[in-house]
Amino acid sequence: KKTKDQLIIDAGQKHFGATVCKSCGMIYTASNPEDEMQHVQHHHRFLEGIKYVGWKKERVVAEFWDGKIVLVLPRDPSFAIKKVEDVQELVDNELGFQQVIPKCPNKIKTFLFISDEKRVVGCLIAEPIKQAFRVLSEPTGLQSPNSKECPRAWQCSDVPEPAVCGISRIWVFRLKRRKRIARRLVDTLRNCFMFGCFLSTDEIAFSDPTPDGKLFATKYCNT
Ligand code: ACO
Ligand code: ZN
Repeated sequence: KKTKDQLIIDAGQKHFGATVCKSCGMIYTASNPEDEMQHVQHHHRFLEGIKYVGWKKERVVAEFWDGKIVLVLPRDPSFAIKKVEDVQELVDNELGFQQVIPKCPNKIKTFLFISDEKRVVGCLIAEPIKQAFRVLSEPTGLQSPNSKECPRAWQCSDVPEPAVCGISRIWVFRLKRRKRIARRLVDTLRNCFMFGCFLSTDEIAFSDPTPDGKLFATKYCNT
């Protein structure tokens, strides 16, 4: 019972019994004990995972009115790496991604957006790549309205194009979306990925984007 009292529940969101937790962002049915139990578990694990204590010599690569961006590199102290691993696990869980083994683990750059409340509210993982396949727009008109085709199967060009930097993950905490956090992470990546140059949007590629990721990428690359 004690844990339950610590949760802040949005009473305004009770349509169909669905509740959005104002701290962890999980949507669940408060009247369903199983759901509620799952929430309690997720709640603590999630808030612990995004908690950011910080460390001496952290690499602050951008500062904003509502937070800062910290860059973590593979040879950083173990507590910095541990934080990145914890956050990545939460992100992969949410995205339903399998753990991907990077080709060059020592070349990965991880950008964390830290909010003023000392939480990791955004994460971008990037790695050097040599080529990418452009996502073609969905074949409109080809699909009948009752088509059972998977809407996530975007069509990709089979002509590889040169690229420099691949974004293998981009994620923003559910309750902090649409505040330009993802945009600021990608801007910072373009500025910091290669010393002394600002990457163009043609030089970066999003790997296997989700529908959210695709909407963001399309908007970002056209503005
Ligand atoms: N629907 C429509 N347009 C969107 C969306 C969306 N869900 N998200 C972003 N955009 C567009 C908007 O035009 C937005 O500008 P506006 O708010 O002024 O209209 C613009 O992109 C910039 O958006 P940001 O505020 O910078 O994006 P945000 O911080 O909300 O993060 C993200 C976007 C990372 C995709 C977030 O929705 C998220 O974490 N989703 C879940 C995880 C996910 O699917 N990540 C992508 C995986 S693919 C990959 O990792 C390679
Ligand atoms: Zn919660």
